Amino acid sequence: PARALAAMSAQEPASLSDLNALIRRSEPLVPGATQAVPGEGPIGAPIAFVGEQPGDQEDRQGRPFVGPAGQLLSRALAEAGLDRAQAYLTNAVKHFKFEERGKRRIHQKPSAGEVAHYRWWLDRELGFVGPRLVVALGATAVLALTGRSVPITRARGPARFDGKPYQGFITVHPSYLLRLPEAAQTDAYGQFVDDLRRVRALAEEVRG
Ligand code: URA
Repeated sequence: PARALAAMSAQEPASLSDLNALIRRSEPLVPGATQAVPGEGPIGAPIAFVGEQPGDQEDRQGRPFVGPAGQLLSRALAEAGLDRAQAYLTNAVKHFKFEERGKRRIHQKPSAGEVAHYRWWLDRELGFVGPRLVVALGATAVLALTGRSVPITRARGPARFDGKPYQGFITVHPSYLLRLPEAAQTDAYGQFVDDLRRVRALAEEVRG
């Protein structure tokens, strides 16, 4: 994998579609994924959202945030007055990592080494898209964007990511909301929508 990455880095992509072609041709670092899942959304999108990795549905469909977590994200974006179609959505890691349990494919968290492997792509991707604001959804996204592990509860809110040309914002991952006990979900979802409202206000501010 290290050699594959070095070979890939030598092939500096000239555009987002070049980069996505490289991503689609790449082998998963951990074998098993059906296909790579590149980001989605318009070049020049003012806001980019970075998740962890594709889930089961994303792996089957080849598109980010189309499964249960993605649907929750869509609903929260709409409630916060943000148009999903105008945002750029991507993941820190571009392949689904899972463990098979019977017929089910259970999500496995990517290791720090795996996140580091995909960082080169993520940086270039965001460079081509050029968002003013990048929202890290959960700890894996923060690690991918900053190289550091930070507890979300402490870092939640506006953030500066060292050396990046965009404003940052840190919030929870929508899958975290789905995993909470039902009694805690309503409040946590409300806080997530509040965060997205702040994201919306911040994007308007950064636009000036
Ligand atoms: N979770 C993510 O982080 N990304 C997706 O695309 C789907 C679920």
